Amino acid sequence: MMMENNKDSSFLRDSVSKSVWQGTANFNGVKQATGVLESGKIYDCLIVGAGITGITTALLLQRSGLSCVIAEAQEPGFGTTGGTSSHLNTFFDATYPEVESDFGEESAKLLARGGKEAFSMIEGFVRTLKIDAELEGKSAWLYAENEKESKQLQKILEASQRAGVSVEPDGENLVPVPFDSVICFKGQGQFHPLKYIHGLLEEFIKLGGVLVNHTLIRESSFEDGIYTANSDSVSIRAKKLFYATHIPPGVNLMSLRNAPYRSYVLGLKLKDENYPDGLAYDMQEPYHYFRTHTIDGQPYLIVGGEDHKTGHGDPELAFRELEEYVRQYYEVESVSYRWSAQYYIPVDGLPYIGQLPGAAEGTYIATGFNGNGMMFGTLSAKIIADLVLGNENEYTSLFSPSRMKPVAGFTEFVKENADVAWHFIADRFSAGQLPALSDLQSGEGRIVDFEGKKIAIYKDESGKVTALNPICTHAGCTVQFNTAEQSWDCPCHGGRFDVLGKVLNGPPTKDLEMVLISYDRKS
Ligand code: FES
Repeated sequence: MMMENNKDSSFLRDSVSKSVWQGTANFNGVKQATGVLESGKIYDCLIVGAGITGITTALLLQRSGLSCVIAEAQEPGFGTTGGTSSHLNTFFDATYPEVESDFGEESAKLLARGGKEAFSMIEGFVRTLKIDAELEGKSAWLYAENEKESKQLQKILEASQRAGVSVEPDGENLVPVPFDSVICFKGQGQFHPLKYIHGLLEEFIKLGGVLVNHTLIRESSFEDGIYTANSDSVSIRAKKLFYATHIPPGVNLMSLRNAPYRSYVLGLKLKDENYPDGLAYDMQEPYHYFRTHTIDGQPYLIVGGEDHKTGHGDPELAFRELEEYVRQYYEVESVSYRWSAQYYIPVDGLPYIGQLPGAAEGTYIATGFNGNGMMFGTLSAKIIADLVLGNENEYTSLFSPSRMKPVAGFTEFVKENADVAWHFIADRFSAGQLPALSDLQSGEGRIVDFEGKKIAIYKDESGKVTALNPICTHAGCTVQFNTAEQSWDCPCHGGRFDVLGKVLNGPPTKDLEMVLISYDRKS
């Protein structure tokens, strides 16, 4: 599909599709300052990952007088922050009735306070740092389309009000979708995520913080109270270590407690002026949402949904169905942007923020944000900063990664693939030996059998074929090709690799093994 308006941008993402944020960040080619990493210095905290979570945490700590380094495998906003649909909500994918029933009424109230606090933090940063982040306060409508959903909606209304969230029944829906009942949440919002994080980063660097880009931390060790984290080119030493990378590297509890999902988003121009002034969500499974974002005077209707587990669905079909869905309700002139992004659903509904179980004291994580990454990423920063600084924080126990809650949805989680014994005896094979190569289309990737082993083959636009060992370097599942994003996605814990096998998303930290293909005259 031809995308219009996808301006060239120096901002990269973990996907080939370009988000509206990348296309409109408008930093005028000004390179982000990074500070200078001092070799041999022991920093107070190393933060791995320069998305909203890592950057906000780093800024809070640096402001408190600590010395911090952010190590980013690519560039700031490369991961989910560059692909979010950027809603700022004080209600979450884990609904207040669910939180009340699984964690208790007081926890639901605490969650609601956390939402408000995260929103205030964002507003405060935008105001005090004068960040042009296009932050706007909005109302949000949640609507039911049948009687069953209406019953659920009534419960959401009552539990949200008990938790202290400002929400009322409404007689009208924001979007032209027929409804059975609808409620309206006040005090919600939206912003431009890349402009926001770059504003935070600027301040972090001004305060003496250091950002090291293109630095994938492949391993770390802990000795005599000091972490040493190594990339291919640098070694960084610090007293505390925070993985703001969704899932931390290695095979650990977090891989098992969070399921990776892909979410799909369209940025559309309409033939008329019926852009909704607010946020709207249905209650379908998976749900759809709507909002408008105006950039350089051009409004875009942003519609998302059709989510599925990473490596399990058909991304092209998801985009098609999303577009068909929106065309039922809006006069679409053109699809200016379409992109997908990754998020993680925690097994009991709430994020895991704090000390990583089983790791050295002072190893922190923040993950399982569901579709609420901007809010939980911001709240995580406050929690992690307080943990590092030794301050009390009222949210630590609710979000503790060590909590053991009933895991009703656990069986949904994908078991690791037993096929870990992939050994490609020969590291080279002839193109003529693999018939599948002849009908492989440009831009297509496929898993094929070759002498009893599986190989991931991909043909690029110039006709060059790449062959990889398809066994994920994290825990041995077999990757699947994602046509829309031209990546190899792991169905187990969401590890993703580009077409050359380079890591795009953790938890793997090692690239897929390349298999050499030789071409003889006949092939
Ligand atoms: Fe865990 Fe692939 S096996 S991400």
